[in-house]
Amino acid sequence: MQAFQVAPRRWIIFGIATVAIFIAFFRFYGDIPYEYYRNYNPGEAIAPVQNNNDKPQPGYFKAQPEWDFDVPPSAKGWKGYAKTPRNKDIVILTASDGGGHNSQIPDVLKRVLEDRQGYADKHGYTNLWLNTSRYDIGDAHRTWSKIPAVSEAFYLYPNAEWIWLIDTDIILMTPEYDLAKDILSPEAIKKGLMRGTPILDGQLKKNPTNIFTPKDFRVEDIDILITQDHQSVNTGSTFFRRTAFTRYLLEIMTDYTLLMGKDHGGAEQDAIKHLMLEHQLVRNHVGIYPQRKFNAYVQGGDNMGYRDGDLLVHFAGCWVTNKCAGWFEEFWNKRGHADPWRPEGRQ
Ligand SMILES: *[C@@H]1O[C@H](CO)[C@@H](O)[C@H](O)[C@H]1NC(C)=O
Repeated sequence: MQAFQVAPRRWIIFGIATVAIFIAFFRFYGDIPYEYYRNYNPGEAIAPVQNNNDKPQPGYFKAQPEWDFDVPPSAKGWKGYAKTPRNKDIVILTASDGGGHNSQIPDVLKRVLEDRQGYADKHGYTNLWLNTSRYDIGDAHRTWSKIPAVSEAFYLYPNAEWIWLIDTDIILMTPEYDLAKDILSPEAIKKGLMRGTPILDGQLKKNPTNIFTPKDFRVEDIDILITQDHQSVNTGSTFFRRTAFTRYLLEIMTDYTLLMGKDHGGAEQDAIKHLMLEHQLVRNHVGIYPQRKFNAYVQGGDNMGYRDGDLLVHFAGCWVTNKCAGWFEEFWNKRGHADPWRPEGRQ
């Protein structure tokens, strides 16, 4: 009699438990779609991003919250990841106060920002200007403040995967250019990076460093993309990927005691050059593309000077000869040109 009464009660409890498990399962199933994991980023921004360009930061730059920007779990370890970014996760960053040598060119900041906005709209990239006068970087040269701007861009856009830092004295010449496909995709990186190329510290003949980019590299390890002119890497146009390595490199570059507070003529550019020359680990993570890929200069031979079809032109050093304004207008009027103007092989 006893056993007979117990048995149904057990079945009732088992039945309720089973139903409860199914309800719980279907209640939460689908809330976190597979896509979320595949494209994991620390958080999709819903509200419009609020920059604080109009007011100074409330203290020393390194104490600001942007230095604690997050990276996705897939980008935290040694092994890294490789994928083609979505266009909306590419941020074009102009880090400038509109002053300096570039102020020789009338309205330069306003004009290039409009140009970049048009390019960003065409492809769905994000265009961002950060006012570098806001950062309290002590006595370091103002040029260093491009680096806090990169951190702040990662922080303001938690979804941004690549930050493209470009100087103000750059004009985008080919609006069709596809950054994701031609520069950032694993295929582009694998095919395009220079292997076994000397890393320069001044002219090669005068100062051979005997230090080279890796002959073989893992695409998953490449976190920073840069170019080199005839003397040195040039930070006028640089891509930074949201990874733990990038964050650490930005922090070390701006270490005030070791680098930033010291007298470096080339400021943040010297810092990254120094770290590349000194550390194999850094060389493994910083890829060098041929210069004209995304940093053609206004003058120079076929390795360096702008040629038809190049993504952009950079007026690096134009202030030395006082030619910035003239050159700028000449190229500005040729934006998006399709006619032969400066073809390869030109003197
Ligand atoms: C840039 O920041 C500086 C310092 O905070 C400020 O004085 C200036 O007005 C800002 N510029 C703009 C255009 O908001």
